Amino acid sequence: MTAARNVFGSSGAHVPAHSRKEVKQILITEREIAARLHELSRQIERDFTRREMVVVSLLNGTVMFLADLIRHLSLPLRLDFIGVSSYGSGTESGELVFTKELRLDVRGRDVLLVDDILDTGKTLYRVLGKLRALKPRRIKTCVLLNKAERRVEDVKADYVGFEIPDYFVVGYGLDFAERYRNLPFVGILHEEVYKEGCKKINSPRSHKKRRKS
Ligand code: PRP
Repeated sequence: MTAARNVFGSSGAHVPAHSRKEVKQILITEREIAARLHELSRQIERDFTRREMVVVSLLNGTVMFLADLIRHLSLPLRLDFIGVSSYGSGTESGELVFTKELRLDVRGRDVLLVDDILDTGKTLYRVLGKLRALKPRRIKTCVLLNKAERRVEDVKADYVGFEIPDYFVVGYGLDFAERYRNLPFVGILHEEVYKEGCKKINSPRSHKKRRKS
């Protein structure tokens, strides 16, 4: 297996002018993501040779990662989604809420579970439990980002795009209060934005667990 890459915020790329107020630094550039996804997809293809797999992707954060990953996979696959969100107070994780259940039958199938970030591990741990109960042939997990130092549950991903430190990251699908998902890179959010944002916004989603720094 190709080792995950460590990222310590040294890409040297400039934050576009329109994002500078919110994003203090680009952690992983578009180009770095594209190159890494190419490697990851080759690795997945080697492991899943010839068998049709079911890709199960977690909503909403995987939107960009999933789209780019599967377009590079030259394998027969079917795609389904599980909607899951965590709610908590402030920057800490809270209760997991399932907003969409799986529709495809995964019994006896090879499953690739895709998430954008593995943080405390609570989401993946819970979803893996649900999936295993459906008796797939095997389950492999793939995440774009891994924050190993934040882990609470004993869960590892089989495929990891990038190992990152405990930065508050947004972009490339990752949000703060549903914003910034459309940034084409992974960036580090200014502290003032998420501290101020937590105070101002009163919708339940604003109390979601944050990938805090
Ligand atoms: C984020 C992210 C992962 C999860 C990881 O989801 O997409 O699914 O947190 O955190 P954990 O390892 O601590 O459980 P979030 O609940 O923010 O929903 P989203 O995908 O809609 O952004």
